[in-house]
Amino acid sequence: MNSSTPIRLTQTVQKGGCAAKIAAHVLKDVLSGVNFNITDPDILVDGSDFDDAGIVRINDSVALVQTLDFFTPIVDSPDKFGAIAAANALSDVYAMGGVPKSAMAILAFPLATLDPMLMRDILEGANKKIIESKASLVGGHSIDDDTLKFGLSVTGLVNPQEMWTNKGLKLGDKLLLTKPLGTGTLTAGLKKSVYSEADIDDAIVSMMTLNDVISLLPPSLKSKIHGGTDITGFGLLGHTMQMAKASQQSIHLDFEKLPVFKLAFESLKNENLTKAHRTNKEYTFNQIQICNLEKFQEQILFDPQTSGGLLLSIAADAADEIEKIIKQKFKFATLIGEVKAPTDKYVWVN
Ligand code: CO
Ligand code: CO
Repeated sequence: MNSSTPIRLTQTVQKGGCAAKIAAHVLKDVLSGVNFNITDPDILVDGSDFDDAGIVRINDSVALVQTLDFFTPIVDSPDKFGAIAAANALSDVYAMGGVPKSAMAILAFPLATLDPMLMRDILEGANKKIIESKASLVGGHSIDDDTLKFGLSVTGLVNPQEMWTNKGLKLGDKLLLTKPLGTGTLTAGLKKSVYSEADIDDAIVSMMTLNDVISLLPPSLKSKIHGGTDITGFGLLGHTMQMAKASQQSIHLDFEKLPVFKLAFESLKNENLTKAHRTNKEYTFNQIQICNLEKFQEQILFDPQTSGGLLLSIAADAADEIEKIIKQKFKFATLIGEVKAPTDKYVWVN
């Protein structure tokens, strides 16, 4: 392989990152036909509220957080792809209020078309993030496949009294988003060669950033966070709707407050879109109410995020203090809305 023209990973696949997720309505239809028959009382969180991870009680103060996430290349550089896939998978443990403990890699690699050494670059990028999270990579599984895919299964620990579930939102809570929006459209632009990795560096750095909010918070403030999720493939409104539904409340978002990457609106205006922009809109249709916005502005609400920010539901009396602490690492973290009484729509954007 000619080392002066490095392979562009995004050009080897049809769909990239979390935008390649199976559409929510399809998944919902399929899953509703399966009887999981979960009766074990130690299963504290299962898939029924679309939470980020399953939670299994070990004893009254310790529970396992278990999750799996993998996808096709979202960027061209193998080490960055590995780092993003790892940060994205680890995020589902953080999104439950947990701390990652161990990880296993899942890798599908096209040996016929790509240099096997790329596997090492991907793993090294991922392992750096796993080490940064203080977890350990303890194994994995790989297959020879037509399309490159990589991710992690992560196991973490959480105190069952302090889980951040989708149904934990309380009336009057403030909602904080830790990262800007727009990775879907920007990486679509990268794949189309409209942008280079350098053009969208703010988004790439953000996707590589661990959502380890929990390590920033003093113990006294941890109980002030009532619920949370990370914003990924179903976009801001898809994930927000799932939380409002699970908590039986309504969520009110302030459009002006939403943090957005530098080129994201320009990219949406130029219609760098994914299939998920459409399916995420279809998924939330009828259950949300959006104020008068331009088409490109509206698209940011449905933009599929890869390794997106945490959306945390925080007791109103601690929201400003927690925002200030989180901003030390996540400088774009912002309070974007609040939890109100249930209405005929789950999410309102004003
Ligand atoms: Co998640
Ligand atoms: Co996930």
